[in-house]
Amino acid sequence: MMPSAVPASDQSITDAAKALSQGRLVALPTETVYGLGADGLSEHAVSRIFAVKGRPSDHPLILHVDSAAQAKKLAAHWPQSADRLAEAFWPGPLTLILKRADNVPDAVTGGQDTVGVRVPGHPVALALLHAFSKVGSGVIAAPSANRFGGVSPTRASDVVHGLGAFLEAGDIVLDGGDCSVGVESTIVDLSGERPRILRPGGLSRSEIEQVLAGLSTQSTPSSGRGDAAVPRVSGSLESHYAPRARVRLIPPEQIMTAATETLTQQPGVRIGLMPFNHQQLDKDAADMRWVIQSMPNQAKAYAQSLYAVMNDLDRLGIDVLLVASPPQTVEWEAVLDRLRRAATRIDDSPTMGE
Ligand code: TXA
Ligand code: MG
Repeated sequence: MMPSAVPASDQSITDAAKALSQGRLVALPTETVYGLGADGLSEHAVSRIFAVKGRPSDHPLILHVDSAAQAKKLAAHWPQSADRLAEAFWPGPLTLILKRADNVPDAVTGGQDTVGVRVPGHPVALALLHAFSKVGSGVIAAPSANRFGGVSPTRASDVVHGLGAFLEAGDIVLDGGDCSVGVESTIVDLSGERPRILRPGGLSRSEIEQVLAGLSTQSTPSSGRGDAAVPRVSGSLESHYAPRARVRLIPPEQIMTAATETLTQQPGVRIGLMPFNHQQLDKDAADMRWVIQSMPNQAKAYAQSLYAVMNDLDRLGIDVLLVASPPQTVEWEAVLDRLRRAATRIDDSPTMGE
């Protein structure tokens, strides 16, 4: 059964809250990406998320609630740093990892002693959480609404396209328009001795550092990378967020040369190019043999459109995607992270991104 997306309205949000309380799945818009939601306190409802995504069951899920007060009920310990960050950035693109409370099901945490919590900023997500707290637990477990390892959805149509075949009658896809942030939330682990950024995302490292500054000398975030005790994070697998196409990061000025070379070496291959808007491509650029999708010059605008562009190019059947690499500066951290993962392939199988 291929469901269609329902425009978000008071009625459809009420219906969706009821569906959640009956153990159904509801794909919902958030400001970062669309999530595949289920009642976060129901083992059974949560198990359906893993089945529909094709995600290994030991990968933990983020719990979404409508306020910091509700988030506190899911944590065994709520440090001062959590208060600071929640006050500064919730509702918003920030996930906090905390020691879990006893009411959090094992299915959510993948058996770990920590839990990820977030208050999303999208008005439809907040309205749904609010409605669900009246008829159910008010806690929505939601990973990005894509098949495991693939490109996250930033439009309801991406969800229907990617997951429609796996959803059942009674499940709902709520359409709340295009996501404004476009990459996933920044994940900050507050369960250890000092805060650590596990995944760069919608909030920059410097925004988080500013809020934590002065809290205590222990509070400066460090990168999760290279740390032996990094918890299991599926977003930190090397190959992730990958489209079907093989992605290559190329210095911007070499993108046309790379396109020509690729075509010489592999005639017949379908090529997509993602230069920057500001780039002046030479006159050969308007060639029928490749698809050009120019990208915004600003990091936030780039992030907002990245997954939509990748999803569109995948649907056009692009085999090789040549991406002009962004500058290696902090404001590009989240975009660079997602592009590098998309460019990483463990084997040559075209289905690796699934
Ligand atoms: O923006 C977002 O965070 C979106 C929207 C829907 O909220 N959600 C999202 O969920 O990106 P997902 O499951 O695709 O990615 C969440 C990441 C995963 O890599 C997961 O391993 C990690 O968060 N995570 C969740 N709970 C964790 C925990 N207790 N410890 C460490 N990592 C955790
Ligand atoms: Mg994801």
